[in-house]
Amino acid sequence: MVTLKSRAEIEEMRKAGRIVAAFHQAVSDLIVPGVTTLDIESFALRFLREKGAKAYTIGYNGYPFATCASVNDVIAHGFPNSRPLEEGDIVTIDIVAEADGWIGDSAWSYAVGEVSEEARKLMRVTKECLELGIERAIVGNRIGDVMHAVQSHAEQHGFSVVRDLLGHGVGREMHEEPNYPHVGRPGRGFRLKEGMVMTIEPMINAGTAVMTVDADGWTARTADGSLSAQYEHTIAITADGPIILTTM
Ligand code: MF3
Ligand code: CO
Repeated sequence: MVTLKSRAEIEEMRKAGRIVAAFHQAVSDLIVPGVTTLDIESFALRFLREKGAKAYTIGYNGYPFATCASVNDVIAHGFPNSRPLEEGDIVTIDIVAEADGWIGDSAWSYAVGEVSEEARKLMRVTKECLELGIERAIVGNRIGDVMHAVQSHAEQHGFSVVRDLLGHGVGREMHEEPNYPHVGRPGRGFRLKEGMVMTIEPMINAGTAVMTVDADGWTARTADGSLSAQYEHTIAITADGPIILTTM
């Protein structure tokens, strides 16, 4: 069941969204060579506690951390670890906060020092995919309209779109209906309705879209070892157009 949110509920959701946005703004200064993703996890725990927010992912289907830290060929759901980040790495930090009973969900890819031209291009194009998707997240459009924009932009640049991990409704829970891949065809799929709150979170790979999962049951990687990037916002669909909730 898709739960539509009222204007007032969408306003209430801004708090969790702003906390997540503030986290990303603060963490960007921390991401330098030598820092570990466990350092970032500690920072996230402290940050959420100070803001009075809950780290929603801890214990979610057994996930043990407040952040996902996905380095280089890791697509998503990487565990924070003690390996120092190195110059040239890219790392996607994903965080889900609960505040006043509502969820904010946002992921962002970061460059560690100077990165390759390919990595820079992958990050730029992936962010543009998110922006192009948001532009089409309009009442009456279909999910295929949104995701066609995402997919075609990625593929035009020679990149591939991960199919195995999905965008999702967001509200009092992190994963609500509907679920949808970041590929699609114009005019296909469900219609976007006023009051839907959903993520757009394209995971774009430099090589194959094929994904493998490590023995830990979580860490999702590109099958060919190529780089992967992701940008994710929580978006409210309103009569006045899309509202990005995970922004300041
Ligand atoms: N932001 C991720 C998502 O879109 C969060 C999932 S991490 C999990 O689904 F480990 F908690 F599942
Ligand atoms: Co999400």
